[in-house]
Amino acid sequence: MTNLNGVVTPPSTPSPNLLQMNMAREREKYLEEYNFPFCEAATKFEKLAKIGQGTFGEVFKARDKKNHKKLVAMKKILMENEKEGFPITALREIRILQLLKHDNVVNLLEICQTRANQFNRYRSTFYLVFEFCEHDLAGLLSNTKVKFSLGEIKQVIQQMLNGLYYIHSNKILHRDMKAANVLITKSGTLKLADFGLARAFSAQKNGQPNRYTNRVVTLWYRPPELLLGDRNYGPPVDLWGAGCIMAEMWTRSPIMQGNSEQQQLTLISQLCGSITPEVWPKVESLDLYNQLELVKGQKRKVKERLKPYVRDPMGCDLLDKLLVLDPAKRFDADSALNHDFFWTDPMPCDLSKMLSQQTQSNFEYLAPRRLNNHQSSAMRPASAVASQGSSTSATSGFHERVF
Ligand SMILES: Nc1ncnc2c1ncn2[C@@H]1O[C@H](COP(=O)(O)OP(=O)(O)OP(=O)(O)O)[C@@H](O)[C@H]1O
Ligand SMILES: [Mg+2]
Repeated sequence: MTNLNGVVTPPSTPSPNLLQMNMAREREKYLEEYNFPFCEAATKFEKLAKIGQGTFGEVFKARDKKNHKKLVAMKKILMENEKEGFPITALREIRILQLLKHDNVVNLLEICQTRANQFNRYRSTFYLVFEFCEHDLAGLLSNTKVKFSLGEIKQVIQQMLNGLYYIHSNKILHRDMKAANVLITKSGTLKLADFGLARAFSAQKNGQPNRYTNRVVTLWYRPPELLLGDRNYGPPVDLWGAGCIMAEMWTRSPIMQGNSEQQQLTLISQLCGSITPEVWPKVESLDLYNQLELVKGQKRKVKERLKPYVRDPMGCDLLDKLLVLDPAKRFDADSALNHDFFWTDPMPCDLSKMLSQQTQSNFEYLAPRRLNNHQSSAMRPASAVASQGSSTSATSGFHERVF
């Protein structure tokens, strides 16, 4: 710039501080005004109660302000530790839920957000909005007033297997099967929920084994192949969890409550027999086979130990075929659905009449007996525990053992 005397003077530049402040203000304005596409304001819902405290955020029951009859569950996406924007785990959950549309899979309705403003330090909160289901199976099982007849148990397990058959046919693994992730509506429809750890799977490519993380599935529902470090696993991991949940329909609490990976494997061997190459060919090739202590000389006692609870021979037989050590020999969802258990009297029967006696929701989070569970690391998948920086062995939680 030249002044009247022909002397060149630099343009007046704001101080670095002022520049930074301006940039920050610009950013705030941008964030305040930014409209995320396909993402409505969370204020359209009125929160009614907190119904879940998951590893990755809170879950609320809410209703649509414009349509009071429309109830939803809002799952908050935890953004606290995010430096890179929207968390990849939530994106994966959304993509998978968008793909899956089935009566026995929870229905994702939309994503909504709170607006960024100075009160939330210009950070929006995002929610996954689901159709509301009145109960979860962990809540129902911990309520002693809820009694399932054999036909009703068959209906629950059949729907769970239908859901698994559907997701596996769509090449999705759930990887966190447990009673708290199985929802049931008041009309008796079961929905698999919590796809936070789910992933797509494929057959091995060019003969190369898959290398998926084995730090998945809540410890008490974790199959032996994951405990032994397998990274080339598939749908059988979910069928093991289905077997544990099926047994829980009678025992009313998780059947193997280990407090470390080592103890979980011991409990599995005490029920399903010793892990040896005779019953499980190629088990020696799994990474941790030689590193963990495997109990020897244990007989398989699945039927014998579950009979006093289950009392139905068909039920015991199906459990025996789900809780199989070798994943290659474990029943898949299709074989399980074809088992005589579902095709002999009493046939699977409607749950709505029994559930109509429940005037209040049953959720694990609200159940007194399980109140401490969400603090126990055994109740969370290893990957979630690791991301919180604690050890993978449980130190608290429930130690009331069935066996
Ligand atoms: N659509 C829904 N209707 C009713 N309740 C729900 C719904 N979705 C989730 N919940 C409740 O909230 C709980 C936690 O939800 P979800 O399992 O999806 O979250 P999470 O953070 O992944 O949990 P966790 O880490 O404990 O497995 C469920 O166990 C269930 O009780
Ligand atoms: Mg969950």
